[in-house]
Amino acid sequence: MNNLIRISLDKLKKNNIPNPELDLRIILNNSSKKNKEIIFSNFHINDIDLKIFDKLLIKRLNREPISKILNKKYFWKNEFFVNSRVLDPRPESELIIEETLKIYKNKNEPLKILDIGTGSGCLSISLANEYNNANITAIDISKSAINVAKKNIIKNNFEKKIKLKLMNFYKIRKKFDLIVSNPPYLSQQKYDKCQIEIKKFEPKLALVGGKDGLKFYRIFARFLEKIMNRGSYFICEIGDDQLDSCIRIFKNSKLSIKNIRKDLQNIDRTLIFSKI
Ligand SMILES: C[S@@+](CC[C@H](N)C(=O)[O-])C[C@H]1O[C@@H](n2cnc3c(N)ncnc32)[C@H](O)[C@@H]1O
Repeated sequence: MNNLIRISLDKLKKNNIPNPELDLRIILNNSSKKNKEIIFSNFHINDIDLKIFDKLLIKRLNREPISKILNKKYFWKNEFFVNSRVLDPRPESELIIEETLKIYKNKNEPLKILDIGTGSGCLSISLANEYNNANITAIDISKSAINVAKKNIIKNNFEKKIKLKLMNFYKIRKKFDLIVSNPPYLSQQKYDKCQIEIKKFEPKLALVGGKDGLKFYRIFARFLEKIMNRGSYFICEIGDDQLDSCIRIFKNSKLSIKNIRKDLQNIDRTLIFSKI
């Protein structure tokens, strides 16, 4: 094994980086001067720009996630610009798109969609890609998140299809056919136990949903029916172990749970509601 690879791997391991081999390969390939993919066995020191390599490695040793170092993360069918001011789109949130596609099979339906807490804009942009005539409102209370979403919307040419608004969701007065949300849902206690990558490089505002993590669901249960059209749906993500609490919270609301979707780790992750 080349010396640089051995030393870099040792450093990553000493700093408790979870997947050192994978991350090192990504760093090597992002400092590459060549077109071919670098793997450890074919690596040659002249293949990379050492200055870039050192910069990227130091960032990772500082526990910055690869997505934030490279400013990109894949979600559904697109690559998104991300930075430390937005939550990285997570694969489990793609269930929201999958469930929407099951409900609305006609890709030409003129759906009025609201995305609460758009962050990077990943849900809105993915839905805009799927539904030709969708009219989407994407909101967030974080100015920096709105700036990132704007960048992603422009990159995908969806300025006409997606209206971005810096606002709190309970100020919304219009009505929608579909509301999607991946709200902040960690309890303060769970947040305190998160890995450094999350606490240092993702916004707390995007993660913590009040002391017990359930703050948003309580407000959703009271408020959302007011902004939902007849026959409309609300699809949202929930945290680990929050299903029973959410069932209790929505029990006396005007939203009824139509389906519960588990993620790949068999955790109840996505709730699909319709307006009663
Ligand atoms: C968990 S992140 C979800 C981001 C993105 N939708 C995704 O799935 O990756 C939650 C987002 O909600 C935003 N947010 C928090 N409180 C909000 C509120 N009261 N109204 C609107 N957005 C809010 C945060 O700024 C953050 O961007």
